[in-house]
Amino acid sequence: MVAKVISGREVAETILTTDLKNKVLELNKKNIKPKLIVILVGDMKASASYVAQKEKFAVKAGIESDIMRFEATVTEEEILTQIDNINNDKSIHGVIVQLPLPDHISVTKVLNKIDPSKDVDGFTPTNVGKLFLGEDTLVSCTPKGIMQMLASTGTNLSGKNVTVVGRSNIVGKPVAILCLQQHATVTMCHSRTKDLNSKLADADVVIVAVGIPKFINGDQIPEGCIVIDVGIHNIDGKLCGDVDFESASQKASAITPVPGGVGPMTVCALIENTIIAAERIG
Ligand code: GUN
Repeated sequence: MVAKVISGREVAETILTTDLKNKVLELNKKNIKPKLIVILVGDMKASASYVAQKEKFAVKAGIESDIMRFEATVTEEEILTQIDNINNDKSIHGVIVQLPLPDHISVTKVLNKIDPSKDVDGFTPTNVGKLFLGEDTLVSCTPKGIMQMLASTGTNLSGKNVTVVGRSNIVGKPVAILCLQQHATVTMCHSRTKDLNSKLADADVVIVAVGIPKFINGDQIPEGCIVIDVGIHNIDGKLCGDVDFESASQKASAITPVPGGVGPMTVCALIENTIIAAERIG
């Protein structure tokens, strides 16, 4: 079997330029202009390129976005003060702090400072807790984008076996919860899982977010499964994911590419969350 390639770039473009653009126009009629602030600390190349994509997508949907840049030496206190200011600014509907942060700044403290109603990354304890409880909330962007990509394939997850490889707070854990909410049977795997291959053998959907280049290959996945590859790595100037695309695409029925798969969907979900926050905050 040769897999259909699920283009996150195309799915995101459609959502941004139809659904989200229309929602923004409706908000504009009520004099609400959705606005996102991205806090960027230091000069990491990868972070700068993610942030540039966020700005590009914001323009496509017609929302305002601004980047607040800080030197890597900025104090934790300064970042906390800025978040406080943003929390109190009625013209701002969403804020994210681009991760990773320098070691001297506590990610926990920073995330705890963000007003959950403006937490468009869905990283605050309040929003993570609501997701866990199945309450309506701002859902973190990569898991949300993954669910939208699966929906775009017409897959009904009810009763299906989903194997998640990777247990991060940003991707693995929340995406497992979202799949459970859609009545999938979810198996969580990670770096210490014994006999990973047996956990993959009966998967209908495999979601890989381990952060290791080409960690999973075609020999490990069953014929006809759907593969979602969350990883992105630059190996000798060439981008690849956590999945060996060449071999996996010979076994899967559908697979996400790297680049152009999950990445654009994550950014699209961020813009969508900002619009949702603006609809709620007004
Ligand atoms: N760094 C890598 N992915 C993300 C993300 O989804 N949100 C934030 N804030 N930082 C990131």
